[in-house]
Amino acid sequence: MTLEGTESVTELAGRVPPSFTLGVAAAAFQIEGGVKAGGRGPSGWDAFAEKPGTIMDGHSPAVACDHYNRLPEDVALLKELGVDSYRFSLSWPRIQPDGQGSFNTEGLDFYDRLIDQLLDAGISPMATLYHWDTPLPLEHRGGWLNRDTAKRFGEYASAAGERFGDRVAQWVTLNEPVSVTLNGYALGVHAPGRRLMFNALPAVHHQLLAHGLGVQALRAAGVAGGVGITNLHSPVRPASRKVGDRLVAHLYDLLMNRVYADPVLLGRYPSLPLYARPWLRSIGKISDADLKTIHQPLDFYGLNYYFPVKVALGPGITPMPADMHQELAKLPFHEVGYPEFGSTGFGWPVAPEHLGIVLQELRDRYGQALPPVYITEGGASFPEPDRVSGTLEDSERVDYLATHLGAALEATAPGGNAEGVDLRGYYVWTLMDNFEWAAGYSQRFGLVHVDFDSLQRTPKRSFYWYQALSRARSKRQ
Ligand code: NOJ
Repeated sequence: MTLEGTESVTELAGRVPPSFTLGVAAAAFQIEGGVKAGGRGPSGWDAFAEKPGTIMDGHSPAVACDHYNRLPEDVALLKELGVDSYRFSLSWPRIQPDGQGSFNTEGLDFYDRLIDQLLDAGISPMATLYHWDTPLPLEHRGGWLNRDTAKRFGEYASAAGERFGDRVAQWVTLNEPVSVTLNGYALGVHAPGRRLMFNALPAVHHQLLAHGLGVQALRAAGVAGGVGITNLHSPVRPASRKVGDRLVAHLYDLLMNRVYADPVLLGRYPSLPLYARPWLRSIGKISDADLKTIHQPLDFYGLNYYFPVKVALGPGITPMPADMHQELAKLPFHEVGYPEFGSTGFGWPVAPEHLGIVLQELRDRYGQALPPVYITEGGASFPEPDRVSGTLEDSERVDYLATHLGAALEATAPGGNAEGVDLRGYYVWTLMDNFEWAAGYSQRFGLVHVDFDSLQRTPKRSFYWYQALSRARSKRQ
């Protein structure tokens, strides 16, 4: 299939380097369901979603895609898709229901089965330890505002490493800590629903500490695979050349991108402008020992890219889900959007060239300190029907994926603007439509359509496109 203006599969496959990983990603809480099955404990997200008004249309994550009960069917889909690797997350409350103390055999067995079935299907497992489902007892003790959660995470990482370390090819400690801090602790639109604004900053430090302790624990457990972290990077631009806009763009970039990447890759926090320093008081003094723990050598760096942001000084309306407006309106800046670009179902700008810009920024900021990079997530939701008969023609998603993968390959190729970045792979978000956090089931990102009444899975056109890409690439080898 060739879409108007979209590079053909064969052409694109011709640009994918032979050892480049073509993968697909998902997360436990978004697909598994079975929230009370097999000894799983509740997570902060279960509790949050039960509160009225937190999830769009009152959707419940209790069943999600019922992946917990449909493992063989879903691995068969992955096999049919023909990906090299599958990025999934381990559910902490399924493995360690209380977030400390004993481990749940049934939960561990579930992931044993997943990993073994993936390996039998010739798919390399990439496991994320934390994709936002904090065990509820830990959330009750402050969650990421409590330094102790980082220690608990280290223990959980150690158990996971010992159990699965012989078979997992790659480990991701944390997924997008920025989203947890911002949406969960600052704005309160995600679990645990805290609205602390700048007082949420301790969640940054404790998550990063958890990352460092997690890396140490995995390595001490002797895992065979590589270890890294996944950060969201959104290139930030000022709305105009005015000093005020440039100032807030700089601040936004520090708070959204650099406070998560600099300590991990450089062993230090970026210095914040003077007026922003009082916000740091809530963290207390950051010791050199903590920074050393956070700054572990990594085998790879995971980058999630969805869209660029443009910001202006002064309160205003940010083009984000309406439930965020109330809190965002209190900020001294707002996003102005990119009307010149197309947009996704979420209203996010479609800007593949900015993926090249992110890669360039990573190279320029971190140089030799940047390990090989995997794009651990990229994808888009578009308005799609709840029920389908036959293959859904999601040409916008095909176009989105083709242009983004294409832009990443172009930027990192010799002569590209991010030349020198060792880009090793791209993981499409996501295998199948799933529970999109506060948006419930309203945003469909999948290569596979899910009917949330019958739970029937139906591959979309984008599934066959990605399959064709993978086949065309393999043929070349
Ligand atoms: C990033 C998150 O890791 C994932 O859980 C989410 O579904 C996607 N963004 C899309 O919003």
